[in-house]
Amino acid sequence: MGSFHLADFTGVRCACVGWETVLRAACMLRAFSKLRPRLIAAFLMVSLAPLVLLEYFNHRATRQALIDGAHRALYASATQTAQAIDGFLNENLNGLRVHALLPAVQRFLAAPLDARRKVAAWQTLLRLSRKDTVNLISFAVLDLAGHNLIDTRTVQIGRDESQRDYFKALMAAKVPAVSAMQFADAPGDALTLHFASLVWDSAGRPLGALRITYNATVVQQLTTQALHASPSARVVLFDEHHIRLADSAQSHLIFTSVAPIETDLIRRLRAEWRLPEGGPVEATGPPALASALKQLANGGYFTAPLSMGSQDSQAEPYAVGAARLRYRPWLVVVAEPQSVLLVPIDRLLGEGVILAIAIAFLVSLFGVVTAGWLTSPFRTLTEAVSRFSAGERGVEVAVRSHDEAGELARAFNEMMGRIRAHTAELEAQVTERTQALQADIARREAAERALAQTHAELELRVEQRTGELRAAHARLQEELAERERAESEKARLEAQLRQAQKLEAIGTLAGGIAHDFNNILGAILGYAEMALDAVPAGSNLQRYLGNVMAAANRAKDLVDQILAFTQPGSREHVPVRLGPLLGEVAELIKASLPETIDLKLRVNAEDATVQGDVIRLHQLVMNVCTNAVQSMPEGGLLEIALDVIELSERMVQRHHALEPGAYVRLKVTDTGHGIDEATLDRVFDPFFTTKDLGQGTGLGLSLVHSIVSDHGGAIEFSSTPGQGSRFTVYLPRSGETASASGIERVPIPSGRGETVLLVDDDEALVLLGEEMIAALGYEPIGFQDSQAALEAFQARPARFDLVVTDQLMPRMSGTELATRLREIRPDIPILLMSGFGGLELAHKARRAAVHALLKKPLQSRDLAQAIARALNVNKKFGSDSQR
Ligand SMILES: Nc1ncnc2c1ncn2[C@@H]1O[C@H](COP(=O)(O)OP(=O)(O)OP(=O)(O)O)[C@@H](O)[C@H]1O
Ligand SMILES: [Mg+2]
Repeated sequence: MGSFHLADFTGVRCACVGWETVLRAACMLRAFSKLRPRLIAAFLMVSLAPLVLLEYFNHRATRQALIDGAHRALYASATQTAQAIDGFLNENLNGLRVHALLPAVQRFLAAPLDARRKVAAWQTLLRLSRKDTVNLISFAVLDLAGHNLIDTRTVQIGRDESQRDYFKALMAAKVPAVSAMQFADAPGDALTLHFASLVWDSAGRPLGALRITYNATVVQQLTTQALHASPSARVVLFDEHHIRLADSAQSHLIFTSVAPIETDLIRRLRAEWRLPEGGPVEATGPPALASALKQLANGGYFTAPLSMGSQDSQAEPYAVGAARLRYRPWLVVVAEPQSVLLVPIDRLLGEGVILAIAIAFLVSLFGVVTAGWLTSPFRTLTEAVSRFSAGERGVEVAVRSHDEAGELARAFNEMMGRIRAHTAELEAQVTERTQALQADIARREAAERALAQTHAELELRVEQRTGELRAAHARLQEELAERERAESEKARLEAQLRQAQKLEAIGTLAGGIAHDFNNILGAILGYAEMALDAVPAGSNLQRYLGNVMAAANRAKDLVDQILAFTQPGSREHVPVRLGPLLGEVAELIKASLPETIDLKLRVNAEDATVQGDVIRLHQLVMNVCTNAVQSMPEGGLLEIALDVIELSERMVQRHHALEPGAYVRLKVTDTGHGIDEATLDRVFDPFFTTKDLGQGTGLGLSLVHSIVSDHGGAIEFSSTPGQGSRFTVYLPRSGETASASGIERVPIPSGRGETVLLVDDDEALVLLGEEMIAALGYEPIGFQDSQAALEAFQARPARFDLVVTDQLMPRMSGTELATRLREIRPDIPILLMSGFGGLELAHKARRAAVHALLKKPLQSRDLAQAIARALNVNKKFGSDSQR
């Protein structure tokens, strides 16, 4: 695909590249939208159209005249040639008619056997033949049966010529006849033509015939050498079968036909020596020629597309003239190609074209000038309009004439005037409207600015408010969490208290009974011992007394156990390493283990230390392990494991009694009968046992529970009936190292009567705390209400040396109280107690400048050390300045 470009015709820049003639035509049409080309085109049309028409008609007439002239000339030429050949034939026939009258011939034929007469005739023929030695071939005398009697070519004497066409024609018409063009009888002979005439006697009776044979090339020469209208003309002589006898241009076509010939005819013509033996007969021309020749039996002229040669040659229009001969049914045809005839027309046409170009040039020149003159006012106007379009306002055109162009210029100037006035008016309106719009825009922008400002302020306020709400929400969450913790702490403490009360009640009862029981047992044992000494050895009585003593001793053990249970926490806690302790217990148990039970001890924290009572810890482990052994009467595996674990906040949630931190974990696992569903909740209850009467007291796990609680730890168990149980004990890990025996005592610092303000909303704990503080050598003043404590402090701030306060209290929390107390006396040392730890509390404690954070339940050793440290620090860094 090519590209094209349409451009302005005035610049004659119409470049159409590539394909479409249509587009080129469109370019041209576009160009004709201008006046000047239109004018020029009109002039050209007016001047050239008649010329073209004239040329056309002239051409037609000339052409027809040329063809008619050629027809006539060719016909005349053909007729002339035909007459020449006829003349030749006529002359010979006449000559023969004269020779037939020769007396020697007549006499001979009247008496053919007369030798003298034969010689005379013979000599006469020889004399005659010598007249034309070029074209005459032979002279002969025939009898009426066609026999050759005398012949100048002696070889032919005696030949029968009765079947020859000339003889037959002669005998039929009795007038001299001429033969067709024939090949000679003997090989090497020329083409021949025979003439024959009858010889009559004086009575008018036929005696025989005289025959002359001529060389036929004479006829061919007459045909081809004829003078014609043009050298390009061609002359052909046809016989009655349209076989060429002579051809001026292509002699090789002689004896070929232009139309198909039947085979029989060919055979016959060959028999008559009219066609050569062998070789092609037909060189058929176009059918038009054959049919035209048939129609022109008597001569005439026509024009037909012919190839005058063979079938293969190209057919072209020919003008043809034809003439018939008198003495033979032959046709002379003269033809000339139309292209040659019409050469003058082409010359005329060339001249016409040159004339047309000259006229077109002159007319175009005239058109250009005229169009320029006519379109000048329009151009001026167009230019003015363009200037006006480009923005020029004072446009006017000069009025140079009073014709239509002048009128148009005047009207244009008037229109310009009106447009100027109208434009000025419009411009004024536009200015006015623009000012109004600008004012409007300014107002709108101001309003938008104000709106944006208001929006920003509102957003700021919303943000502030959101911040406040978020803070309030956080506070609320915090308070809720605090409350939840407080409630769970309260529940735990209540449960602890209940358990403690239960144990205390049982303890008091059991303790009282045990005390009296001990005295009674003392008496029983004493008297039994004395009685045993008094009875003869080996007697029944001795055996009975021995049994009494054993039973009494068992009872004493039981009483000891009851006493141990009823006096919790009476001994001091020291750092104890559990690894060695477990080793001791394992040794003890191993000694009494049946063989069916395996014991496995895995201590992963040999140096792990807890703050505790070594004897009670011993009891703890023994009891748990004993239960495990007892649960496997048919044998099994007992596994004792010790490790250290760091309990995270999340893990602690499972052990409500514990704080996050490091713990020593003891796991005792058995493969015994396990604990059934009904028993699960009661295993820690005092005196609950599933063992037979006299087998167990049901105090083992109660004691374990109380020992674990005493040490600030927790115990849990899991069991699958029939598979076994696992008891896990967590004890807070102590940072201090224990002596190798684990029983070394660390001195507890004691006070010198300093006054300690103790605040806790739980009455029992206030009492317990007061006792603990007093036992450490300080003077406790306890309050259950933080507000009351604050008021007491306000009344006499200098009376107190140190404050110990609980964190979770109903009206005022420990940290709040601490802050208030600091406001009164910034140097007062404050210790904060809490059942819970955590980062948040540590934070609050730091803010309230609390000296130390104590874990509940309070251990007297921890409390003593914390108090001593706080007082010491205070003495060193602050109290002097205060006093
Ligand atoms: N490891 C254990 N496997 C199965 N049951 C156990 C296990 N430990 C405790 N128990 C159950 O808990 C009950 C209470 O145990 P506890 O140690 O308090 O008393 P006891 O063992 O029955 O008596 P005592 O300890 O005086 O011999 C047991 O009777 C037993 O049913
Ligand atoms: Mg037990």
